[in-house]
Amino acid sequence: MLNAGRAPSQDDVALTAGQPIGHVVSVRGSQATVGLSTSPSPDGNKARSTVGKFLGIRAGHSLLIGVITKVSIEAPASAKDHGFHSTADLDLVGEIKQPATAQAQFQRGVTEYPAIGDPVLAIGARELRLVFNVASTSVIEIGRLQQDSTIGAYVDVNDMLSKHFAVLGTTGVGKSSGVVLMLQEVLRARPDLRVFVLDAHNEYGRPFGDNALVLDPRNLRLPFWLFNFEEIVDVLFGARPGTEDEVDILSEVIPRAKANYHQYRGAADRSMVRRGAAGYSVDTPVPYRLSDLVGLLDERMGKLENRSSRMTHHRLIGRIETVCNDPRYSFMFENANVGGDTMTEVLSQLFRLPPNGKPITIMQLAGFPSEVVDAVVSVICRLAFDLGLWSEGAAPLLLVCEEAHRYVSADRGIGFGPTRRSISRIAKEGRKHGVFLGLVSQRPAELDATILSQCSTLFVMRMTNDRDQAILQSAVSDAAANLLDFLPSLGTGEVFAFGEGVALPTRVKLKQLPPNLIPKSDIVSGAGADFVAGINEEFFTTVLKRWRGASTSQNGNFDDVRPVDQAAAAPLQPAQAPERDPNRPSLLKRPLSDRLDVAKAFQAPAKSSRLPET
Ligand SMILES: Nc1ncnc2c1ncn2[C@@H]1O[C@H](COP(=O)(O)OP(=O)(O)OP(=O)(O)O)[C@@H](O)[C@H]1O
Ligand SMILES: [Mg+2]
Repeated sequence: MLNAGRAPSQDDVALTAGQPIGHVVSVRGSQATVGLSTSPSPDGNKARSTVGKFLGIRAGHSLLIGVITKVSIEAPASAKDHGFHSTADLDLVGEIKQPATAQAQFQRGVTEYPAIGDPVLAIGARELRLVFNVASTSVIEIGRLQQDSTIGAYVDVNDMLSKHFAVLGTTGVGKSSGVVLMLQEVLRARPDLRVFVLDAHNEYGRPFGDNALVLDPRNLRLPFWLFNFEEIVDVLFGARPGTEDEVDILSEVIPRAKANYHQYRGAADRSMVRRGAAGYSVDTPVPYRLSDLVGLLDERMGKLENRSSRMTHHRLIGRIETVCNDPRYSFMFENANVGGDTMTEVLSQLFRLPPNGKPITIMQLAGFPSEVVDAVVSVICRLAFDLGLWSEGAAPLLLVCEEAHRYVSADRGIGFGPTRRSISRIAKEGRKHGVFLGLVSQRPAELDATILSQCSTLFVMRMTNDRDQAILQSAVSDAAANLLDFLPSLGTGEVFAFGEGVALPTRVKLKQLPPNLIPKSDIVSGAGADFVAGINEEFFTTVLKRWRGASTSQNGNFDDVRPVDQAAAAPLQPAQAPERDPNRPSLLKRPLSDRLDVAKAFQAPAKSSRLPET
């Protein structure tokens, strides 16, 4: 990064021309040890040499910028002879060319190395502004430099996005708050960007307010036919063992169901229709109807002589029925028998194209049945990548993944393979197609190291675990690695930023968010000091409707639950049956027990038990 600076004022020039605070006493590679002359100077804090601060070394026509990684009073004897009371180790990270002129420029890396005796200066506001390229339109301010709170901490959005970023730190240190404020700034700098947040704890809905579409199982529509084969198998079978035969059967029947549907519709794409089932793979994202799928299974079963094969088909049909009649899965199976290619609407809603004033999608994952979350995340990440791929990156998208270690764990045995592949594909190739990744995790050691290594900008917060620190040490450059030693001592809302997005490894105090923008789940957001004392029935109403919502139909709105007193006053009524897709009962033309008498299944094959045509 080469930055052009503004013309320096008299004051500014005076800073680099100021009195040296020490001199170089030894140089080794890109590290220099400097002897510091006296105890703290009259200008106080600015001149205090502490770890993480930047110092300048005047070397020829350049001002070399180094970050202090160690301060010590164990000055070598030679340094003491020169009157130095202490030494500081510097990692040289960049240089400002022609520092006292209007042409002053900062660049990463050093071309000139310091010599013994070169003067060392406390660098000032002007140099820091040059370093962080404040004048550029693509930089955002995320907070203040810890070194000098009068100076903003700037991140280059384009560099940060295009090579992905990660926000890492122990629980409660301010990762989600940091993500909120960064996203706000990012969207200001990049109005063309859309953001999709995989919100594991339902906490991002509030901070983004009207700028975001909040999706949960009640309003999400993600038709089952958009799931690829592995994903739909995961939804139908989960980790149930011994289902290989059923999975094989499904792989044969799904392409046929797709072909049937398109033949039936006299689809516009006649070339596909002519090719019949051969035109579709199990993964082709085209609609089909569950009734066609079950009809085909039923037809196959009717022709079978082998008793165990019949039972396998029977089990498979039963499994499909169970899942698609489960109200918790209605976001996938609504209109399962109606058909209709809604892919445009689904993609348009999910990925905010056009944004219609809401460029952010918050996918609240906490309300989904736990066994389906992995498949849903996999579908979303896959669709995001494929949309970028096939649209040649025309509409850039940032995918933010909270609790990323759940989906891309270092242990390959944990998590769902297709989700890992989808995220890893974005990490490796996403930037070519305008799909960027932001990973958030409290356990970097449990994150897939390959995927973490694709994140070129790291925002690292307080971290005490040795394993987490070791992973980061190996992920960042040597200069940055020296600074990681004091990660355990960072305060809440303090962050070390490394990598592409920032000019130098920088210690930043993030901006303070107002209370209404701090990410919190809806229930917790009401909590105050007297919250527990004031808990009432309404609290339990809210908690219980969420709790029960995880296992009952929530086609209706949670918010329309009556207040507790009214509910108590109303006479008890039989529970109302959940509203069902009117076509769902006709999925199987008659109840399973009628359609397939198990006893009959063991007899010689009867005539085909094919379902009547729809
Ligand atoms: N930038 C900030 N401005 C205001 N408050 C903050 C900020 N950062 C952190 N906090 C405070 O710290 C608390 C925890 O922050 P946050 O939820 O962002 O942490 P986290 O690292 O995401 O935690 P977890 O790992 O549990 O998700 C917040 O509720 C808030 O009170
Ligand atoms: Mg969080």
